[in-house]
Amino acid sequence: MELDDDGGQDIYEVTSQASFNGDGAESDNSSAPSRYSYAPSRDGRSLFREIAGRKLNDTNDQYILPSDEGEHSRLDKQHIVHLLSVGRLYIPVEMVENALTELPDRRRAILDLGCGGGNWATSMALEFPHADVVGVDLAPTTTRPPPPNCRFEFDDFTLGLQHYYESFDVVHSRTVASGVKDFAWLVREAAKCVRPGGVLIMIEGNMELANSFKQPQEIAFGEGGPGQSWMARMCFEAYNTWKARGSSYGTAVKMEGMMLENEDLLADVQSDIKWIPIGPWARGTTPEDTRQLIHLGTLMRLNMKEFERSLVPLFLANGYAPELVQRFIQGADKEMDELLVHMYLKYHHCWARRIGEPGRYSPSTWVDEDEIVADQEPAEGGSYISFVVLAYKV
Ligand SMILES: C[S@@+](CC[C@H](N)C(=O)[O-])C[C@H]1O[C@@H](n2cnc3c(N)ncnc32)[C@H](O)[C@@H]1O
Repeated sequence: MELDDDGGQDIYEVTSQASFNGDGAESDNSSAPSRYSYAPSRDGRSLFREIAGRKLNDTNDQYILPSDEGEHSRLDKQHIVHLLSVGRLYIPVEMVENALTELPDRRRAILDLGCGGGNWATSMALEFPHADVVGVDLAPTTTRPPPPNCRFEFDDFTLGLQHYYESFDVVHSRTVASGVKDFAWLVREAAKCVRPGGVLIMIEGNMELANSFKQPQEIAFGEGGPGQSWMARMCFEAYNTWKARGSSYGTAVKMEGMMLENEDLLADVQSDIKWIPIGPWARGTTPEDTRQLIHLGTLMRLNMKEFERSLVPLFLANGYAPELVQRFIQGADKEMDELLVHMYLKYHHCWARRIGEPGRYSPSTWVDEDEIVADQEPAEGGSYISFVVLAYKV
Protein backbone atom coordinates (compact mmCIF):
# COMPACT_ATOMS: atom_id res chain seq x y z
CA MET A 1 0.00 0.00 0.00
CA GLU A 2 1.50 3.31 -0.99
CA LEU A 3 0.46 6.87 -0.41
CA ASP A 4 -0.53 8.52 -3.67
CA ASP A 5 1.59 11.58 -4.27
CA ASP A 6 -0.83 13.66 -6.30
CA GLY A 7 -4.08 13.20 -4.43
CA GLY A 8 -5.39 13.48 -0.91
CA GLN A 9 -3.56 12.15 2.10
CA ASP A 10 -5.69 9.04 2.27
CA ILE A 11 -5.21 7.51 -1.15
CA TYR A 12 -3.78 4.02 -1.31
CA GLU A 13 -2.59 1.90 -4.18
CA VAL A 14 -4.50 -1.34 -4.00
CA THR A 15 -4.94 -4.17 -6.42
CA SER A 16 -8.15 -5.96 -7.11
CA GLN A 17 -9.13 -8.90 -9.17
CA ALA A 18 -12.71 -7.67 -9.38
CA SER A 19 -13.40 -5.88 -12.63
CA PHE A 20 -15.14 -2.57 -12.84
CA ASN A 21 -17.21 -0.94 -15.53
CA GLY A 22 -16.89 2.69 -16.53
CA ASP A 23 -18.99 4.11 -13.73
CA GLY A 24 -17.04 2.33 -11.09
CA ALA A 25 -19.47 -0.48 -10.40
CA GLU A 26 -18.23 -4.04 -10.19
CA SER A 27 -19.23 -5.87 -13.33
CA ASP A 28 -18.99 -9.64 -13.14
CA ASN A 29 -16.91 -12.56 -12.05
CA SER A 30 -14.36 -12.04 -14.81
CA SER A 31 -10.85 -13.00 -13.86
CA ALA A 32 -9.50 -9.67 -15.06
CA PRO A 33 -7.68 -8.02 -12.19
CA SER A 34 -7.53 -4.28 -11.74
CA ARG A 35 -5.32 -1.87 -9.90
CA TYR A 36 -6.97 1.07 -8.29
CA SER A 37 -6.03 4.08 -6.21
CA TYR A 38 -8.31 3.91 -3.22
CA ALA A 39 -9.23 6.82 -0.97
CA PRO A 40 -11.33 5.79 2.03
CA SER A 41 -13.01 9.20 2.36
CA ARG A 42 -13.91 9.25 -1.33
CA ASP A 43 -14.54 5.66 -2.30
CA GLY A 44 -15.91 4.19 0.90
CA ARG A 45 -19.50 4.38 -0.23
CA SER A 46 -19.05 2.36 -3.40
CA LEU A 47 -17.20 -0.48 -1.69
CA PHE A 48 -19.40 -0.80 1.37
CA ARG A 49 -23.07 -1.15 2.16
CA GLU A 50 -24.78 -0.58 5.46
CA ILE A 51 -27.04 -3.03 7.29
CA ALA A 52 -28.35 -2.37 10.79
CA GLY A 53 -25.88 0.45 11.29
CA ARG A 54 -22.86 -1.72 10.42
CA LYS A 55 -20.61 -1.33 7.38
CA LEU A 56 -20.27 -4.45 5.21
CA ASN A 57 -18.27 -5.09 2.06
CA ASP A 58 -20.32 -4.51 -1.08
CA THR A 59 -18.29 -6.68 -3.42
CA ASN A 60 -19.25 -10.18 -2.30
CA ASP A 61 -22.73 -11.04 -0.99
CA GLN A 62 -21.54 -14.29 0.51
CA TYR A 63 -19.55 -12.69 3.30
CA ILE A 64 -21.98 -10.96 5.59
CA LEU A 65 -20.06 -9.96 8.68
CA PRO A 66 -19.13 -6.28 9.07
CA SER A 67 -15.93 -4.80 7.63
CA ASP A 68 -15.77 -1.77 9.88
CA GLU A 69 -13.57 -0.48 12.67
CA GLY A 70 -15.88 -2.12 15.23
CA GLU A 71 -15.26 -5.50 13.60
CA HIS A 72 -11.55 -4.85 13.35
CA SER A 73 -11.50 -4.03 17.05
CA ARG A 74 -13.17 -7.41 17.70
CA LEU A 75 -10.62 -9.10 15.45
CA ASP A 76 -7.81 -7.43 17.44
CA LYS A 77 -9.01 -9.33 20.50
CA GLN A 78 -9.44 -12.55 18.55
CA HIS A 79 -5.91 -12.14 17.21
CA ILE A 80 -4.53 -11.96 20.76
CA VAL A 81 -6.62 -15.03 21.65
CA HIS A 82 -4.82 -16.87 18.84
CA LEU A 83 -1.44 -15.52 19.96
CA LEU A 84 -2.02 -16.61 23.56
CA SER A 85 -3.35 -20.04 22.63
CA VAL A 86 -0.66 -20.80 20.04
CA GLY A 87 2.21 -18.96 21.73
CA ARG A 88 3.19 -17.24 18.49
CA LEU A 89 1.84 -16.37 15.04
CA TYR A 90 1.90 -19.96 13.76
CA ILE A 91 2.00 -23.47 15.17
CA PRO A 92 4.44 -25.22 12.77
CA VAL A 93 7.44 -23.18 13.94
CA GLU A 94 10.15 -25.25 12.28
CA MET A 95 8.32 -25.48 8.95
CA VAL A 96 7.66 -21.74 8.83
CA GLU A 97 11.16 -20.76 9.92
CA ASN A 98 12.66 -23.07 7.29
CA ALA A 99 10.37 -21.68 4.62
CA LEU A 100 11.30 -18.13 5.55
CA THR A 101 15.08 -18.34 6.06
CA GLU A 102 16.79 -15.35 4.52
CA LEU A 103 18.03 -15.89 0.95
CA PRO A 104 20.83 -14.03 -0.85
CA ASP A 105 18.99 -13.75 -4.18
CA ARG A 106 15.35 -13.00 -3.43
CA ARG A 107 13.04 -11.76 -0.72
CA ARG A 108 10.74 -14.23 0.94
CA ALA A 109 6.98 -13.76 0.44
CA ILE A 110 3.93 -14.36 2.64
CA LEU A 111 0.24 -14.24 1.69
CA ASP A 112 -2.67 -13.76 4.12
CA LEU A 113 -6.04 -14.56 2.53
CA GLY A 114 -8.91 -12.65 4.14
CA CYS A 115 -6.59 -10.53 6.27
CA GLY A 116 -9.31 -8.40 7.93
CA GLY A 117 -7.70 -5.57 9.90
CA GLY A 118 -4.29 -6.98 8.98
CA ASN A 119 -3.16 -8.17 12.42
CA TRP A 120 -1.51 -11.37 11.28
CA ALA A 121 -0.07 -9.87 8.09
CA THR A 122 1.49 -6.86 9.82
CA SER A 123 2.84 -8.98 12.69
CA MET A 124 4.47 -11.38 10.20
CA ALA A 125 5.99 -8.41 8.35
CA LEU A 126 7.54 -7.22 11.61
CA GLU A 127 8.79 -10.68 12.54
CA PHE A 128 10.28 -11.31 9.08
CA PRO A 129 11.66 -7.98 7.78
CA HIS A 130 13.38 -9.85 4.92
CA ALA A 131 9.96 -11.01 3.63
CA ASP A 132 7.23 -9.15 1.76
CA VAL A 133 3.73 -9.74 3.07
CA VAL A 134 0.52 -9.36 1.08
CA GLY A 135 -2.84 -9.26 2.83
CA VAL A 136 -5.90 -9.78 0.63
CA ASP A 137 -9.43 -8.88 1.63
CA LEU A 138 -12.81 -8.07 0.10
CA ALA A 139 -12.82 -4.47 1.17
CA PRO A 140 -9.93 -2.10 1.80
CA THR A 141 -9.14 -3.39 5.17
CA THR A 142 -7.78 -0.79 7.40
CA THR A 143 -6.67 2.75 7.89
CA ARG A 144 -3.81 1.49 10.04
CA PRO A 145 -0.51 2.04 8.21
CA PRO A 146 1.26 -1.27 7.63
CA PRO A 147 5.05 -1.71 7.88
CA PRO A 148 6.89 -0.98 4.60
CA ASN A 149 7.23 -4.70 3.76
CA CYS A 150 3.47 -5.30 3.99
CA ARG A 151 0.75 -4.29 1.56
CA PHE A 152 -2.98 -4.84 1.38
CA GLU A 153 -4.96 -5.68 -1.72
CA PHE A 154 -8.66 -5.74 -2.14
CA ASP A 155 -9.75 -8.80 -3.99
CA ASP A 156 -12.34 -11.55 -3.82
CA PHE A 157 -10.07 -14.57 -3.65
CA THR A 158 -12.93 -16.83 -4.73
CA LEU A 159 -12.47 -15.41 -8.24
CA GLY A 160 -9.22 -17.32 -8.50
CA LEU A 161 -5.63 -16.76 -7.46
CA GLN A 162 -3.83 -17.65 -10.71
CA HIS A 163 -1.82 -14.44 -10.51
CA TYR A 164 -0.26 -15.74 -7.28
CA TYR A 165 0.52 -19.35 -8.16
CA GLU A 166 3.82 -20.48 -6.64
CA SER A 167 4.61 -16.96 -5.49
CA PHE A 168 4.65 -17.32 -1.68
CA ASP A 169 6.71 -19.20 0.88
CA VAL A 170 3.90 -19.14 3.42
CA VAL A 171 0.18 -18.87 2.67
CA HIS A 172 -2.23 -18.36 5.57
CA SER A 173 -5.97 -17.97 6.01
CA ARG A 174 -7.86 -17.60 9.27
CA THR A 175 -11.64 -17.73 9.84
CA VAL A 176 -12.67 -16.89 6.28
CA ALA A 177 -15.00 -19.84 5.53
CA SER A 178 -18.28 -17.94 5.70
CA GLY A 179 -17.14 -15.95 2.65
CA VAL A 180 -16.37 -19.07 0.61
CA LYS A 181 -18.82 -21.39 -1.14
CA ASP A 182 -16.41 -24.18 -1.88
CA PHE A 183 -13.73 -24.46 0.77
CA ALA A 184 -12.18 -27.56 -0.80
CA TRP A 185 -11.56 -25.45 -3.90
CA LEU A 186 -9.96 -22.74 -1.75
CA VAL A 187 -7.64 -25.25 -0.08
CA ARG A 188 -6.36 -26.37 -3.49
CA GLU A 189 -6.15 -22.84 -4.87
CA ALA A 190 -4.25 -21.65 -1.77
CA ALA A 191 -1.92 -24.67 -2.02
CA LYS A 192 -1.11 -23.69 -5.61
CA CYS A 193 -0.03 -20.24 -4.38
CA VAL A 194 2.64 -21.80 -2.16
CA ARG A 195 6.09 -22.36 -3.62
CA PRO A 196 7.30 -25.97 -3.39
CA GLY A 197 8.97 -26.26 0.02
CA GLY A 198 6.67 -23.61 1.49
CA VAL A 199 3.85 -23.94 4.03
CA LEU A 200 0.07 -23.65 3.90
CA ILE A 201 -1.67 -22.78 7.20
CA MET A 202 -5.44 -22.61 7.62
CA ILE A 203 -7.48 -21.94 10.76
CA GLU A 204 -11.25 -22.08 11.17
CA GLY A 205 -13.53 -21.71 14.18
CA ASN A 206 -16.02 -24.44 15.07
CA MET A 207 -19.48 -22.92 15.44
CA GLU A 208 -20.66 -25.80 17.62
CA LEU A 209 -19.83 -24.55 21.10
CA ALA A 210 -18.79 -27.09 23.73
CA ASN A 211 -19.63 -27.24 27.44
CA SER A 212 -17.05 -27.44 30.22
CA PHE A 213 -16.87 -31.25 29.70
CA LYS A 214 -15.95 -30.61 26.04
CA GLN A 215 -19.28 -32.06 24.89
CA PRO A 216 -21.77 -30.24 22.61
CA GLN A 217 -23.36 -27.35 24.52
CA GLU A 218 -27.14 -27.45 25.03
CA ILE A 219 -28.82 -24.67 23.07
CA ALA A 220 -31.49 -22.30 24.44
CA PHE A 221 -34.87 -22.37 22.69
CA GLY A 222 -38.20 -20.84 23.77
CA GLU A 223 -37.63 -19.22 27.13
CA GLY A 224 -34.32 -21.01 27.63
CA GLY A 225 -33.51 -22.94 30.79
CA PRO A 226 -30.71 -23.74 33.25
CA GLY A 227 -27.58 -24.97 31.54
CA GLN A 228 -28.84 -23.88 28.11
CA SER A 229 -27.03 -21.20 26.16
CA TRP A 230 -28.21 -18.29 24.02
CA MET A 231 -24.67 -17.77 22.81
CA ALA A 232 -24.66 -21.35 21.52
CA ARG A 233 -28.08 -20.63 19.94
CA MET A 234 -26.64 -17.61 18.11
CA CYS A 235 -23.72 -19.67 16.79
CA PHE A 236 -26.12 -22.45 15.76
CA GLU A 237 -28.37 -19.96 13.90
CA ALA A 238 -25.37 -18.32 12.23
CA TYR A 239 -24.10 -21.73 11.12
CA ASN A 240 -27.50 -22.63 9.64
CA THR A 241 -27.93 -19.25 7.97
CA TRP A 242 -24.49 -19.40 6.38
CA LYS A 243 -25.24 -22.93 5.23
CA ALA A 244 -28.57 -21.85 3.73
CA ARG A 245 -26.83 -18.98 1.92
CA GLY A 246 -24.44 -21.45 0.32
CA SER A 247 -21.33 -20.72 2.40
CA SER A 248 -19.00 -23.55 3.32
CA TYR A 249 -20.13 -25.15 6.56
CA GLY A 250 -18.52 -27.50 9.03
CA THR A 251 -15.24 -26.39 7.48
CA ALA A 252 -13.26 -26.52 10.72
CA VAL A 253 -13.69 -30.28 11.00
CA LYS A 254 -13.38 -31.01 7.27
CA MET A 255 -10.28 -28.89 6.59
CA GLU A 256 -7.69 -31.56 7.38
CA GLY A 257 -9.44 -34.05 5.08
CA MET A 258 -9.52 -31.41 2.36
CA MET A 259 -5.77 -30.91 2.67
CA LEU A 260 -5.19 -34.67 2.63
CA GLU A 261 -7.14 -34.93 -0.64
CA ASN A 262 -4.43 -32.82 -2.31
CA GLU A 263 -1.64 -35.35 -1.97
CA ASP A 264 -0.13 -34.23 -5.28
CA LEU A 265 0.44 -30.77 -3.74
CA LEU A 266 0.57 -31.16 0.04
CA ALA A 267 2.55 -33.43 2.37
CA ASP A 268 3.04 -33.64 6.17
CA VAL A 269 -0.57 -32.56 6.74
CA GLN A 270 -1.02 -31.91 10.47
CA SER A 271 -3.66 -30.40 12.69
CA ASP A 272 -4.38 -29.20 16.18
CA ILE A 273 -7.40 -27.95 18.10
CA LYS A 274 -7.24 -25.04 20.53
CA TRP A 275 -10.02 -25.04 23.11
CA ILE A 276 -10.75 -21.46 24.12
CA PRO A 277 -12.84 -20.87 27.26
CA ILE A 278 -15.48 -18.19 26.75
CA GLY A 279 -15.12 -16.16 29.93
CA PRO A 280 -12.61 -16.45 32.80
CA TRP A 281 -14.04 -19.64 34.29
CA ALA A 282 -11.48 -22.32 33.37
CA ARG A 283 -8.72 -23.40 35.75
CA GLY A 284 -5.40 -25.05 34.91
CA THR A 285 -3.20 -27.49 36.79
CA THR A 286 -0.64 -24.80 37.71
CA PRO A 287 -1.06 -21.12 38.71
CA GLU A 288 0.62 -20.19 35.40
CA ASP A 289 -1.89 -22.28 33.38
CA THR A 290 -4.75 -20.77 35.31
CA ARG A 291 -3.49 -17.24 34.68
CA GLN A 292 -3.24 -18.04 30.97
CA LEU A 293 -6.76 -19.50 30.86
CA ILE A 294 -8.16 -16.47 32.66
CA HIS A 295 -6.51 -14.10 30.18
CA LEU A 296 -7.76 -16.16 27.26
CA GLY A 297 -11.27 -16.46 28.67
CA THR A 298 -11.53 -12.75 29.42
CA LEU A 299 -10.49 -11.79 25.90
CA MET A 300 -12.68 -14.44 24.35
CA ARG A 301 -15.67 -13.18 26.30
CA LEU A 302 -15.09 -9.66 24.92
CA ASN A 303 -14.66 -11.11 21.43
CA MET A 304 -17.88 -13.12 21.67
CA LYS A 305 -19.93 -10.22 23.02
CA GLU A 306 -18.84 -8.20 20.00
CA PHE A 307 -19.39 -11.19 17.71
CA GLU A 308 -23.05 -11.34 18.84
CA ARG A 309 -23.43 -7.81 17.50
CA SER A 310 -21.50 -8.55 14.32
CA LEU A 311 -24.07 -11.27 13.57
CA VAL A 312 -27.00 -8.83 13.62
CA PRO A 313 -26.75 -7.85 9.89
CA LEU A 314 -26.66 -11.56 8.94
CA PHE A 315 -29.79 -12.33 10.95
CA LEU A 316 -31.77 -9.26 9.87
CA ALA A 317 -30.84 -9.67 6.20
CA ASN A 318 -32.07 -13.26 6.43
CA GLY A 319 -35.49 -12.42 7.84
CA TYR A 320 -35.05 -12.97 11.58
CA ALA A 321 -37.45 -10.77 13.57
CA PRO A 322 -35.59 -7.91 15.27
CA GLU A 323 -37.21 -8.90 18.61
CA LEU A 324 -35.80 -12.41 18.32
CA VAL A 325 -32.33 -11.07 17.55
CA GLN A 326 -32.67 -8.79 20.57
CA ARG A 327 -33.66 -11.81 22.67
CA PHE A 328 -30.55 -13.68 21.51
CA ILE A 329 -28.29 -10.77 22.46
CA GLN A 330 -29.93 -10.16 25.82
CA GLY A 331 -29.66 -13.83 26.74
CA ALA A 332 -26.09 -14.21 25.50
CA ASP A 333 -24.94 -11.00 27.24
CA LYS A 334 -26.44 -12.12 30.53
CA GLU A 335 -24.73 -15.48 30.20
CA MET A 336 -21.41 -13.80 29.48
CA ASP A 337 -21.71 -11.24 32.29
CA GLU A 338 -22.83 -13.68 34.94
CA LEU A 339 -20.72 -16.60 33.66
CA LEU A 340 -23.87 -18.71 33.93
CA VAL A 341 -22.78 -21.31 31.39
CA HIS A 342 -19.20 -22.49 30.99
CA MET A 343 -18.35 -23.01 27.34
CA TYR A 344 -15.48 -23.43 24.93
CA LEU A 345 -15.08 -22.41 21.32
CA LYS A 346 -12.67 -24.57 19.34
CA TYR A 347 -10.31 -23.31 16.67
CA HIS A 348 -9.08 -25.97 14.27
CA HIS A 349 -5.57 -25.38 12.93
CA CYS A 350 -4.30 -27.28 9.94
CA TRP A 351 -1.04 -27.01 8.03
CA ALA A 352 0.99 -28.78 5.39
CA ARG A 353 4.15 -28.56 3.32
CA ARG A 354 3.88 -27.81 -0.39
CA ILE A 355 5.55 -30.46 -2.53
CA GLY A 356 6.23 -30.97 -6.22
CA GLU A 357 8.51 -29.58 -8.84
CA PRO A 358 8.58 -25.78 -9.15
CA GLY A 359 6.80 -24.38 -12.19
CA ARG A 360 3.86 -26.77 -12.20
CA TYR A 361 1.52 -23.86 -11.58
CA SER A 362 3.07 -20.68 -12.93
CA PRO A 363 1.49 -17.36 -12.13
CA SER A 364 -0.56 -15.77 -14.92
CA THR A 365 1.26 -12.90 -16.53
CA TRP A 366 -0.16 -9.43 -16.80
CA VAL A 367 -0.89 -7.64 -20.03
CA ASP A 368 1.22 -4.48 -20.16
CA GLU A 369 -0.45 -1.89 -17.92
CA ASP A 370 -0.42 0.68 -20.72
CA GLU A 371 -2.58 -1.45 -22.93
CA ILE A 372 -5.83 -0.89 -21.14
CA VAL A 373 -6.27 2.28 -19.17
CA ALA A 374 -9.63 3.62 -18.08
CA ASP A 375 -10.05 6.97 -16.39
CA GLN A 376 -13.03 7.73 -14.26
CA GLU A 377 -14.80 11.01 -13.90
CA PRO A 378 -13.65 12.74 -10.75
CA ALA A 379 -15.85 11.71 -7.83
CA GLU A 380 -17.98 14.47 -6.34
CA GLY A 381 -15.65 17.02 -4.78
CA GLY A 382 -12.71 14.71 -5.36
CA SER A 383 -9.71 14.46 -7.60
CA TYR A 384 -9.23 12.14 -10.54
CA ILE A 385 -9.01 8.44 -9.79
CA SER A 386 -6.35 6.85 -11.89
CA PHE A 387 -7.79 3.49 -12.70
CA VAL A 388 -5.80 0.88 -14.56
CA VAL A 389 -7.52 -2.29 -15.64
CA LEU A 390 -5.26 -5.23 -16.31
CA ALA A 391 -6.14 -8.48 -17.95
CA TYR A 392 -4.54 -11.86 -17.81
CA LYS A 393 -2.79 -13.27 -20.83
CA VAL A 394 -4.56 -16.52 -21.55
C1 LIG B 1 -13.56 -13.16 10.45
S1 LIG B 1 -12.56 -12.14 9.47
C2 LIG B 1 -10.93 -12.71 9.90
C3 LIG B 1 -9.85 -11.73 9.54
C4 LIG B 1 -8.42 -12.19 9.78
N1 LIG B 1 -8.13 -13.38 9.02
C5 LIG B 1 -8.15 -12.42 11.23
O1 LIG B 1 -8.04 -13.59 11.64
O2 LIG B 1 -8.06 -11.44 11.99
C6 LIG B 1 -12.74 -12.82 7.85
C7 LIG B 1 -12.14 -11.92 6.79
O3 LIG B 1 -12.14 -12.66 5.55
C8 LIG B 1 -12.50 -11.77 4.52
N2 LIG B 1 -13.06 -12.55 3.41
C9 LIG B 1 -14.11 -13.39 3.48
N3 LIG B 1 -14.39 -13.90 2.27
C10 LIG B 1 -13.47 -13.36 1.41
C11 LIG B 1 -13.24 -13.49 0.01
N4 LIG B 1 -14.03 -14.25 -0.74
N5 LIG B 1 -12.23 -12.79 -0.54
C12 LIG B 1 -11.44 -11.99 0.24
N6 LIG B 1 -11.61 -11.82 1.58
C13 LIG B 1 -12.62 -12.50 2.16
C14 LIG B 1 -13.52 -10.84 5.16
O4 LIG B 1 -13.69 -9.63 4.45
C15 LIG B 1 -12.95 -10.66 6.55
O5 LIG B 1 -12.13 -9.54 6.64
